[in-house]
Amino acid sequence: MARIGVLTGGGDCPGLNAVIRAVVRKGLGDGHTLFGYTYGWAGVLSGEGEELTAERTKGILPRGGTILGSSRTNPFKEGGPGVDGVRAGMALRDVDVLVPIGGEDTLGVAARLAAEGVPVVGVPKTIDNDLKGTDYTFGFQTAVQIATDAIDRLHTTAESHNRVMVLEVMGRHAGFIAAHAGMAGGGDVILVPERPFDIEEVCGHIRRRHANGRTFSIVVVSEGATPQAETLSTAGSGQLDAFGHERLGGIAVVLEREIEERTGYETRMTILGHVQRGGTPTAFDRVLATRFGVAAAEAVTAGASGKMVALRGTDIVTVPIAEALGDPKTLDDKFFADAEVFFG
Ligand code: F6P
Repeated sequence: MARIGVLTGGGDCPGLNAVIRAVVRKGLGDGHTLFGYTYGWAGVLSGEGEELTAERTKGILPRGGTILGSSRTNPFKEGGPGVDGVRAGMALRDVDVLVPIGGEDTLGVAARLAAEGVPVVGVPKTIDNDLKGTDYTFGFQTAVQIATDAIDRLHTTAESHNRVMVLEVMGRHAGFIAAHAGMAGGGDVILVPERPFDIEEVCGHIRRRHANGRTFSIVVVSEGATPQAETLSTAGSGQLDAFGHERLGGIAVVLEREIEERTGYETRMTILGHVQRGGTPTAFDRVLATRFGVAAAEAVTAGASGKMVALRGTDIVTVPIAEALGDPKTLDDKFFADAEVFFG
């Protein structure tokens, strides 16, 4: 029987606690013991954390965030402790196998560790839904629901004031949240990173709506959306995290100004931000997270390593972690074309 070390890495995501609870309950049932490292790979390196028991994980299924805390620590960053540091942190807690719950970065570390002979079974998570290898990640559906609720609320205030409302949502370099929430909320224009936009085309949709008697418009924009080359200037934040990702956010500010100036319609923007990652997971995400957690414990029992659990159709399967890495998954053309039917 194994001693399993569980950690949550990267941005938090609704459903993390549901996974922790499921790994613990199934793991204990299979005769394993479990240790929870705090703050992602930082906890693994320092050995900090707590014993995970059925009692400790009671009542956490509907809770957002992660009881273990999270961070974007990268053991493999230049000059970092690498695999030796991880092995030392495992030895401190007598851990035999790791179950990291995380996105591309956390799983990237997991894949490197597995290649060095450290037993690892990963669980994919991200609200962005941009991980290959799994049809959906938990947390995504919750983020889409929160963004859809925001669009519904913006609709009523937009129509009261005859305004254009720009809602910026997360998603990094994938437009899944924007496209799904935009479709569900009846957005009039949706801008995603996969399709650089032409600001004049955006204004054209809005003008057409108004010419047809509509008095307001809703624009849903993904934080990673960019204008077509040389059509509009936008400034990046220039800030990078430990994995080299740029901090995104703020395209809605540019759109608010440009749309108002070009169309003459009063425009307001909202940046939804981390609200999308907070609070209780939807039932769909609780179920997916629970099934992922059970499957991860089962994979440990079966002696798997270098694998992650994944959703394929309606089945939970295990696949090589490498399948989730490399280029992120992006929105497919047909989905966007379906959303475009309702533009303008
Ligand atoms: O990957 C999840 C995510 O919420 C992205 O959508 C967003 O760009 C990023 O994390 C924000 O990260 P942070 O919490 O570090 O601001």
